[in-house]
Amino acid sequence: MTVIVSPSILSADYLNLQRDVENLKEAGAQYLHIDVMDGMFVPSISYGPNWVSQLKKVTDLVLDVHLMVVNPERYIQTFIDAGSDIIGVHQESTPHIHRALQMIKNAGIKAEVVINPGTALENIYPVLHMVDQVLIMTVNPGFGGQKFLPETLVKIKTLSEYKKAHNLSFDIEVDGGVNNNTAQQSYDAGANVFVAGSYIFNGDVKNNLQTLLNIK
Ligand code: DX5
Ligand code: ZN
Repeated sequence: MTVIVSPSILSADYLNLQRDVENLKEAGAQYLHIDVMDGMFVPSISYGPNWVSQLKKVTDLVLDVHLMVVNPERYIQTFIDAGSDIIGVHQESTPHIHRALQMIKNAGIKAEVVINPGTALENIYPVLHMVDQVLIMTVNPGFGGQKFLPETLVKIKTLSEYKKAHNLSFDIEVDGGVNNNTAQQSYDAGANVFVAGSYIFNGDVKNNLQTLLNIK
């Protein structure tokens, strides 16, 4: 499986964001993970669509936008217009996940469904045929720097087997507590897109990113 690394800018230096993004690109990152938090769906407040449009101006990295907001349908069009390449919506954030994903797909960009550690995988089966990516949260969302929850590995494995059995072609992304060890475990279970914030930014960015890119 092709490994893709999506560094989370939640751990970047906001006052030197352009420098950090250029370094990530130089080090081989393919995506940029943008965590949008509204203080409602998750306790933290982070940044909104204007960050996406600013980043779009300075980088050609794939903008991988993770919406942690209530009523995501209200914001999807704004994030599309801002230049998102992938938009992820939590199954738990709307009673209309199918409609939310349809809105993203209709814009011709990649649609992703996201599930929390406490949500059963079966809840997203009805929309798997329409997504380009599934994000299995490996921590409870809201903060960087948390510990990877090992019980999420079985979910990755089950999803990967379901994908094969049903001839589906989405990527499987993991987010939260991803480091060299947990990325390897996730890869072995069937994930190929790694979000990492604290692991990449604590220490030598280039080295840490390369370690994730070399997982096989
Ligand atoms: C958590 C966010 C993550 C976060 C990951 O709610 O969705 O993307 O930035 O941070 P680390 O890699 O430090 O766990
Ligand atoms: Zn995220």
